[in-house]
Amino acid sequence: MSYLANNYNRRKISFVKGKGSYLYTKSGKKYLDFLSGIAVNTLGHSHPALIKALNTQAKKVWHVSNSFEIPEGENLAKKLSRKTFAEKVIFVNSGAEANEAAIKIARRYFYSKGQPHKNRVLCIKNSFHGRTLANIFASGSKKMTEGFGPKVSGFDHFKFGDLKSLKKKINRNTAAIFFETAMGESGIKVNSKSFLKEVRKICNKKNILLILDEVQCGIGRSGKFFAYEYSKVKPDIVPIAKGIGGGFPIGAVLMTKKVAKCMVPGTHGSTYGGNPLAMVIGNAVMDQVFKKNFLKNVRKNSEYFLSNLNIIKMNFPKIIKEVRGVGLLIGIQVKVDLTSFINKLTQNQLLTIRAAENVVRILPPLNVKKKEIDKALKIIIKVCKEY
Ligand SMILES: Cc1ncc(COP(=O)(O)O)c(C=O)c1O
Repeated sequence: MSYLANNYNRRKISFVKGKGSYLYTKSGKKYLDFLSGIAVNTLGHSHPALIKALNTQAKKVWHVSNSFEIPEGENLAKKLSRKTFAEKVIFVNSGAEANEAAIKIARRYFYSKGQPHKNRVLCIKNSFHGRTLANIFASGSKKMTEGFGPKVSGFDHFKFGDLKSLKKKINRNTAAIFFETAMGESGIKVNSKSFLKEVRKICNKKNILLILDEVQCGIGRSGKFFAYEYSKVKPDIVPIAKGIGGGFPIGAVLMTKKVAKCMVPGTHGSTYGGNPLAMVIGNAVMDQVFKKNFLKNVRKNSEYFLSNLNIIKMNFPKIIKEVRGVGLLIGIQVKVDLTSFINKLTQNQLLTIRAAENVVRILPPLNVKKKEIDKALKIIIKVCKEY
């Protein structure tokens, strides 16, 4: 009997060690970890720079309250701002928390401008932004909200990729348009460059803020530091988490100075958000991701991986319907039972995870080696042959 609640469907495997792209069980069985804790282990497991950062800081100071200055946080906020659209940052602990803060900021922005009626947030129907009350209702997903009423109001929904449906849902109360630049959980669906450009134009024209959730697709996962960079569109608010901590829980909201002005003392806070230990680790992750050629390498490996997966798709048209993705955020839409396909991959010691639309989600560490991608490709072919 387990004392843990039953809210996860857990595979019957546990790990005692991780190194690079591999996880090891107690008996020494080695698994290729191509889910990376769902886009978290940016640098794989046991990266020496992260171990060093953690150990060094552990001997100094772990936690102080945000009622004091935290230089490590200043440092990370500066790094993020210098490389992105951001001018101000608020640190939190998770993706859901970052999204909640982003929604609060959008509403507070218009409140501070004397337009409190502008408080509605327009999201993609059946999207994913985390499991807090506001975020599940932002998702517009029946499955995620079932049994969790009363409904949190203030969210409207449009269809993925459908500008017409988006335009129809905008009204004088719309404060923000909020979606994932490249959707992970919802089936690896990438919003096109032209869609992003059009949405930005609409936001400018109608005085609406653009919030791009880069919790899963950000921090290099797409092959650019942020997925929105492919479109050259500038968002107003970007919530992040997952990859920035490389395994340590960190979340953040990045925003422009104009937007951040409304967040005066007392408007938001988080006990742990941005504590010294978290910030030192975040800085260490950033130092690796911002190294010359790191992102170029992600794009190169992505091209290799995607083109080979498309060859597999051509060879197994009865098994694979579509290969999707950007960077190392990859999805294989299968025509067979998804659970059985993922189980077969796991039996062959390749770890992946499901997404909506019968998609196998593949999220290797961003520093994955080509020979590890080759190994994964071989396993995928082997599993396709088993049907
Ligand atoms: C796009 C997106 N937003 C938000 C979240 C929620 O993040 P967390 O689980 O850290 O609260 C996730 C998690 O999967 C996500 O993929």
